[in-house]
Amino acid sequence: MILITGATGNVGRIVVERLAAEGHDVQALSRRPSQTEWPFGVQAVEGDLSDAASLGPALEGVESVYLFPAPGLGADFVAAAEAAGVRHVVLLSSGAVDDDLDVQDGPIATRHFEIEHLLRASGLRWTFLRADTFAVNSLPWGYQTKNGDEIRGAYAEAAAPVVHEADIADAAVAALTTEGHDGKAYRITGPELLTHADQARILGEVLGRPIRYVEIDVEQVRRQMGAFVPAPILADILKFWERSLEHPHAVSPDVETLTGHKARDFRSWVEEHADAF
Ligand SMILES: NC(=O)c1ccc[n+]([C@@H]2O[C@H](COP(=O)([O-])OP(=O)(O)OC[C@H]3O[C@@H](n4cnc5c(N)ncnc54)[C@H](OP(=O)(O)O)[C@@H]3O)[C@@H](O)[C@H]2O)c1
Repeated sequence: MILITGATGNVGRIVVERLAAEGHDVQALSRRPSQTEWPFGVQAVEGDLSDAASLGPALEGVESVYLFPAPGLGADFVAAAEAAGVRHVVLLSSGAVDDDLDVQDGPIATRHFEIEHLLRASGLRWTFLRADTFAVNSLPWGYQTKNGDEIRGAYAEAAAPVVHEADIADAAVAALTTEGHDGKAYRITGPELLTHADQARILGEVLGRPIRYVEIDVEQVRRQMGAFVPAPILADILKFWERSLEHPHAVSPDVETLTGHKARDFRSWVEEHADAF
C-alpha cells in the first residue's frame, strides 16, 4: 500500500487522484479526513505528521510513502515508519537545498535539508523531489488582477523555473511506482525560466488584458506580506528573489526523465486557473 501525506494539498491531492486512477492501493493522510471528499477507492486516515504517536493506523501495511515535509516532522516519524515496515519514502523537498553547502542558507532550505538528512541516515530507501517555485504561488495575485491590470510586488526581474504542481505530482507517482529512483535527488522545475514580469505578461495574454508587473520597494513588500508570512520565511523569499536577479535556478530535465512527458508551462497552468485571476 502507498501512503500519501499532505493528501489535501496542492501536490498531494493530485498524487492521490493519479494513483487511485491507476488502480494502486492508496491510503490518504489528513488531520481531518472527514472534511474531504476522496476519490473512489481511496482509504482516508487521520494522523498528524508532527505527532508520530498518531500515525500508527496510517502506517500499518504501508510499503511506500509520499512525504509532505510538514512543520514538526522529524526523527520520530522516521522511526515510526521504519518500525511499521515502510520501505521507500518519496520526499517533497525544495530546490533551495544546496548540496555544496554544509550549513544551508535560510530556514526554507534548512528545514528541507534536515528532513533529507534524517532519511539519508535511516534504513529507508529514499527519493527526493526538490521542487522549484510552484505556479500556485501566483494565486494571491488574483486579488490584484480582479481589481485592475497591475500586479504590484517586489523584484519584477526575479526569475525562477516555475513548476506546475501536476508535474510534481506526476514525478512523485513515477518515483513511487517505478524502479530506479532510490538514493536520487531530482530537481523538479518547469520548462522555462520566468521573471515575475514574464508571469504577469502571460497572465494578461491568457486573460486578454494588458496585465503588467509593477515593481515596488522591497520594504513596502515586507510590510504588506509581513501580515501573512512569518518574518524569517519572508526574509528568505525576498533574498531568494534578489539572488535570482543574477543567479536564477536553472531549468532541469528531471520532470521529463521521471515522467516521460515534457514539463507543463506556466501558460497551461494559468489557462486552468483563469477564474482565480
Ligand atoms: N511553494 C513553493 O514554491 C515550494 C517550493 C518548493 C517546495 N515546497 C514545499 O512544498 C510544500 C507545499 O506543498 P503543497 O502545496 O502540496 O502543500 P499544501 O497545499 O500546503 O498542503 C499540505 C497539506 O499537508 C497537510 N498537513 C499540514 N501539516 C500537517 C501535519 N502536521 N500532519 C499531517 N498533515 C499535515 C495539510 O492537510 P490537512 O489539513 O488535511 O491535514 C495540507 O493540506 C511547502 O510546505 C514546501 O515544503 C514549496
